[in-house]
Amino acid sequence: MKKKIAVLPGDGIGPEIIAQAVKVLETVGKRYNHEFEFEEGIVGACAIDECGDPYPLKTHELCMESDAILFGAIGDPKYDNNPNAKVRPEQGLLKMRKSLGLFANLRPIEPFSCLIERSPLKKERIEGANLMIVRELTGGLYFGEPRGRSENGNVAFDTCVYSKDEIRRIAVKAFELAKMRRGSVTLVDKANVLATSRLWRETVKELHKELYSDIELDFMFVDNAAMQLVTAPGKFDVLLTENLFGDILSDEASVITGSIGLLPSASVGENLSLYEPIHGSYPQAKGKNIANPVATILSAAMMLEYSFGMKQEADAIKQACRESIEQGIVTEDLAADKQSYSTTEVGEFICSQI
Ligand code: IPM
Ligand code: MG
Repeated sequence: MKKKIAVLPGDGIGPEIIAQAVKVLETVGKRYNHEFEFEEGIVGACAIDECGDPYPLKTHELCMESDAILFGAIGDPKYDNNPNAKVRPEQGLLKMRKSLGLFANLRPIEPFSCLIERSPLKKERIEGANLMIVRELTGGLYFGEPRGRSENGNVAFDTCVYSKDEIRRIAVKAFELAKMRRGSVTLVDKANVLATSRLWRETVKELHKELYSDIELDFMFVDNAAMQLVTAPGKFDVLLTENLFGDILSDEASVITGSIGLLPSASVGENLSLYEPIHGSYPQAKGKNIANPVATILSAAMMLEYSFGMKQEADAIKQACRESIEQGIVTEDLAADKQSYSTTEVGEFICSQI
């Protein structure tokens, strides 16, 4: 197969981890006879520095003409600590999600059994946990209007808006994923307080009755879900939720695996999808060749499976990552008191296993 991949390294450690994922994809291309064409674009703080726009039109056009997007991370402390900054790197990410229509964020939480001791949670709580967080990504408080400040500046407001259509299309994704997994969806909301949550419940129930009655569906309030995720994560199969709840719960769920450096994600649209690690740009490690590339490499595996239907190739990458972890060819975040390897060494080892 021939595929064009837009590569957006972004900021901080982005370029280093993306380089490893590209290397792995090239190896897969050679091994399985696919032709991957890579073209780079800028996004985030580096794009602000270069042209004043965190998501320039040129990058948008590159994404639109590609078959999939591989993305590193964005963010730079020089913007975080400056409340007066007019443009922020994060705006680039939000603009990209919205303008590319990437409405479904899939965050699989699959612990590696050999790392179970690394999790701050008790082994017996997390054993067997394997869940998929399906987070709505282009609605809710992140994008609702009106938003802003009162005239005197003493009051600020954001608006949470959801339409039935927005809820339905993401719920379809969740049910379809559940079909291929253990057949259960938990809708996480705050329907005891929020009108939008009540619309979520109503819409998801309707869809369930109409098309997915063979899937098990249950409901959980978000505060309870936050507790269950760390006390009994094995309860969840597909966890479906709105934008802000999904943002928070997916970071929380990442502790189950023991390292946020291991978690990939897909942001899926109608025709185009973007793949990225769930961790941030880790600016303290920039240029040091120490960041864990596995989450990005696993994101590339998700790309092969979800966008290109290359399940076997994706499995080969996942197996190679597992191999690197089992054999202790890992970066310092996972090495504990043992020898640690550089970002490039881990990337090369994974390629050698493919
Ligand atoms: C994420 C991030 C983003 C979000 C930030 C960087 C805007 O936390 O992808 O989870 O809040 O969605
Ligand atoms: Mg987040």
